[in-house]
Amino acid sequence: MRVDVVLCAEQVPAAPGGVAGSHAVVIDVLRATSTIARALASGCAGVLPVAELEQAAARARSLGALLGGERGGLAPSGFDLGNSPRSYDASACAGRLVVLSTTNGSRAIEACAGAASLQAGSLLNAEATARALVERRAERVLLVCAGRRGQVSADDAAAAGCIAGTLALRAAAEFGDAARLAIALFDAWRHDLHGLLLRCEAGRHLVSLGLQADLDDCVQVDSVPVVAERGPDGVFRRGRPR
Ligand code: MLT
Repeated sequence: MRVDVVLCAEQVPAAPGGVAGSHAVVIDVLRATSTIARALASGCAGVLPVAELEQAAARARSLGALLGGERGGLAPSGFDLGNSPRSYDASACAGRLVVLSTTNGSRAIEACAGAASLQAGSLLNAEATARALVERRAERVLLVCAGRRGQVSADDAAAAGCIAGTLALRAAAEFGDAARLAIALFDAWRHDLHGLLLRCEAGRHLVSLGLQADLDDCVQVDSVPVVAERGPDGVFRRGRPR
């Protein structure tokens, strides 16, 4: 297994080996992919990421879906839900399809369109995500950090390191340089991930909005052991819909 990390979504076109044919994982710890994992664990029927606000609202209307997401960290007006993973509990979303529109996460997901498979990974479901890659004997793995406004985000890079490190324990893996950086970052902070998330820009932004509880939630490694995989219709569902 060859494992590469792309440190922000804008670098996907230059990904080693390209995204086409790779088994990709999009990572947006604060908070899009944490939200997807949490929603699916709560019994949500599926999550459809749509980057543009107006398109997201139109899709939600036509599908009879809940509309969730954020701009600037807060729910846009008219949305049913924001982007706090904890608000995607069973009472809010069990049995419902969710259309999710977020700033960086949705764009990163769109950038991975040509991948052979695409999972939503986070600290919450790191082990489950890595195990799914090993079970399907993925030869080429691309861990795509969403990043923030075109820049590297330490929270996403640490989660990529967490997933890559788990892959190393479970398979004979060969790593690109960015994967080694991500593993080193995770190893340096693994005993204080909360401290790392509080220091990173996305974490500081959430705290400034009074949303530190989201950060406290998103840092719980392997607390939401679900595989969140995109199906051919673009909807993320629990398990492996193929
Ligand atoms: C994003 O997709 O940019 C993030 O999830 C932002 C957020 O949740 O505030």
